[in-house]
Amino acid sequence: IRTAAVIPAAGRGVRLGPGAPKALRTLGGTPMLVHAVRAMAASRAVSLVVVVAPPDGAPEVRTLLDEHSFGRTELLVVPGGETRQESVRRGLDALPDGIDVVLVHDAARPLVPVDTVDAVIATVRSGAPAVVPALPLADTVKQVEPRPRGEAEPVTGTPERALLRAVQTPQGFDRETLLKAHDTVVEGEGATDDAGLVERLGAPVVVVPGHEEAFKVTRPLDLVLAEAVLARRRA
Ligand code: C5P
Repeated sequence: IRTAAVIPAAGRGVRLGPGAPKALRTLGGTPMLVHAVRAMAASRAVSLVVVVAPPDGAPEVRTLLDEHSFGRTELLVVPGGETRQESVRRGLDALPDGIDVVLVHDAARPLVPVDTVDAVIATVRSGAPAVVPALPLADTVKQVEPRPRGEAEPVTGTPERALLRAVQTPQGFDRETLLKAHDTVVEGEGATDDAGLVERLGAPVVVVPGHEEAFKVTRPLDLVLAEAVLARRRA
């Protein structure tokens, strides 16, 4: 069974503040995307990584990645689209025959440990069509009626925290299931992750334990945390 990882890295990262596209921001002097590719290549099971670059940035991303070594893992770079879903779709379209298991991993989660990656792959290989790493929540979550920024928002409910999980990536899939989900679910129906598309198909999705260090670098404070995690690893 051959496994590939698709890394959508075409987002601009506006929430991180002004500057380069998010995946190209550096952590410990190395672009976040390079960390993310290494995190996938660290798994012995992953034979191919497909990086989905900003729509007009594929040649630059290729050049950047060629400056680094990823062991025996093969690398493809393809241009992305307007939305994350479109970007993932373009990555899937680039997969060669013979790949049976597909991971989808956000470039914005550069520090996911290899044990988490391997646990996701193992669970797919043992027969689960869709597998998501996830953690229990520290915060209580409220559902609200959204209002314009600055206005108080009425609370409409409080889901039971013990039943909630915050999901991470890499999410792992049986290739056929993920392709079918992308073919079937129409863009704009609000799925913010790939497993969400599979759920809409009615196929089972399971959760395995995620990892604290697989957090998503979204806001400026996340960069501070990511630098600290890297420094601790290097100590
Ligand atoms: O915006 P969000 O944090 O959900 O983005 C998650 C991942 O999807 C990031 O790695 C980002 O680069 C990627 N993305 C993409 N194409 C887009 C938008 C986001 O590849 N059009």
